[in-house]
Amino acid sequence: MRKTVTVFGATGTAGSACVDELIEQKLFDVQVLVRMGRDTDRSTMQGGRAEAGRQSLYARWQASGVKLVEADTASHASLIPALQGTHHLVSCAPYSATEAQYALIYAAREAGVERFVPSEFGFIYEWEQFWPTDTEHRAMARQKAFIRRVIELAGLDYTIIPAGMWPEYYLLEPVAVMGDGDTPMAWSTGRDVGRIIPHVLAHPASRNAVCPIAATAYCSWNELLDVRERLLGRKVERHYLDAAQWKAAYAAQPPGPIRTLMAIGVAATECPEGMSLWAHWNARYLPQFRGTPLAELFPDVIEPFVAAMRASLAP
Ligand SMILES: NC(=O)c1ccc[n+]([C@@H]2O[C@H](COP(=O)([O-])OP(=O)(O)OC[C@H]3O[C@@H](n4cnc5c(N)ncnc54)[C@H](OP(=O)(O)O)[C@@H]3O)[C@@H](O)[C@H]2O)c1
Repeated sequence: MRKTVTVFGATGTAGSACVDELIEQKLFDVQVLVRMGRDTDRSTMQGGRAEAGRQSLYARWQASGVKLVEADTASHASLIPALQGTHHLVSCAPYSATEAQYALIYAAREAGVERFVPSEFGFIYEWEQFWPTDTEHRAMARQKAFIRRVIELAGLDYTIIPAGMWPEYYLLEPVAVMGDGDTPMAWSTGRDVGRIIPHVLAHPASRNAVCPIAATAYCSWNELLDVRERLLGRKVERHYLDAAQWKAAYAAQPPGPIRTLMAIGVAATECPEGMSLWAHWNARYLPQFRGTPLAELFPDVIEPFVAAMRASLAP
């Protein structure tokens, strides 16, 4: 019998790529959880998808055999029947609505769901939650690590997918490099995060496991910036900041999206030797998976994303 995967947060960056890949993969029956009653939208950075965009995605997916299931996602009574028949529930909720997953986890247990994939897709939060400096990123890491405890408490299987850094978020010039720029780390553009989820889920080693992927590239900041310089045909302005400099910059920055990103710099540079916040699980378990080539990713995704970010931050 084919298993059914249901995706929550399906119209977001990671969620929409995940649904598209599930359709391509043809391994699972695919369902999308549609939020009824529209709770306040708190999407990650880009301000979310307009209603017309959501509806056109739904129409395209339905034409490919995806089933839409509607539920008031804050209500167990509404969620439980919607989740019946689901084997794997994948959450791609924005980090600003991490708590939306509590209701999902309880309802998943009641509905007989086997496995819950929480919305992680960043550092290895199990480790980051214990870093000494209290930043808004560590608070998010602790909340995401707590969600995993709740999944275990519910007796559900889990698959945790740390994805390293989404490069599009960190390349506004002058680029603030985290550390000396020479350490290899995981880079996963939002779309590749979504694309790799169905493959991680289908692999037997992902059951009750932490699977830290590098969906797009596993390379250092310097290697990534070298590619960008080659493609742009010019130098990319950058600063190299160590842990003390990131902490000072974070402390001086008023609240807002730049401060949120700076907190990630604090986490990355405070990472003790030998306790990496990123790894390359897919090199070993999914060697056939191909992330978007950097020569395509920079012009198609990263440069437009960076330009939009620059425009949104302009006074
Ligand atoms: N490591 C990194 O550098 C990095 C960067 C960005 C994001 N991330 C992580 O990746 C995950 C997914 O992020 P994303 O950028 O793909 O998210 P996103 O584009 O902001 O979309 C999330 C989707 O979640 C759904 N949703 C559910 N409750 C919501 C609410 N209260 N407000 C708004 N939307 C809600 C919406 O879809 P529906 O309308 O279909 O429900 C929305 O489209 C998050 O856990 C985030 O922390 C990591």
